[in-house]
Amino acid sequence: MVVTDIAIRLRPVSDEDDLDMFRRFCVEPGLIGLDWRGFLDAQGVAKRYAEDGFLGERDGRLVVEVAGSKRAGFVSFNEGLYAGRAPYWEIGIALLPDFRGRGIGWRAQAMLCDYLFAHSPVQRIQAGTHEENLPERHSLVKAGFQLEGVIRACEFREGAWRNGYLYSRLRSDPSPR
Ligand SMILES: CC(C)(COP(=O)(O)OP(=O)(O)OC[C@H]1O[C@@H](n2cnc3c(N)ncnc32)[C@H](O)[C@@H]1OP(=O)(O)O)[C@@H](O)C(=O)NCCC(=O)NCCS
Repeated sequence: MVVTDIAIRLRPVSDEDDLDMFRRFCVEPGLIGLDWRGFLDAQGVAKRYAEDGFLGERDGRLVVEVAGSKRAGFVSFNEGLYAGRAPYWEIGIALLPDFRGRGIGWRAQAMLCDYLFAHSPVQRIQAGTHEENLPERHSLVKAGFQLEGVIRACEFREGAWRNGYLYSRLRSDPSPR
């Protein structure tokens, strides 16, 4: 289950401190960055952990941990289906502010792709982000993703409909790691 890299690893959610980190993303305005869409029910965190430890068949989360056992944030994956028969994963990431801009984001997303390609037969992993999220756009490209295009008016955020940028990495694309 655990995927390793030189200084970063992805691991299952395992204790109350992990859950506290998730709760912070639910209730601290802006901590999650541009994906802040208002308060979320922080009680849902414990419920989901009790249900399946955030490791469902169709979606899940792994904690991003850096050397020294520091909890840096989390990555997520959700299953999607194209044309009724082509499953793919959509991934996401949120790092705590102290861990941003240090090369952790692109590595964690590249590791998550390697993990998902190793354990499921999907051909495609995609990730959407915001036009102005330059850290994530750079991070995805460094993680081996390619820009596919602009998804017009796909998200309602801060009082307006906004465009999204869609990226993908195929099984046949080289891993940057
Ligand atoms: C987006 C996020 C995951 C990126 O991870 P990160 O660890 O901060 O980014 P990295 O250090 O891996 O940087 C990757 C590349 O982006 C560049 N970059 C980082 N911050 C940048 C910024 N503010 N402006 C422009 N480029 C930036 C880096 O320089 C690096 O490229 P380089 O190695 O060629 O210099 C992280 O900042 C985060 O969790 N932000 C809040 C949540 C979020 O926005 N999640 C994504 C929602 S779609």
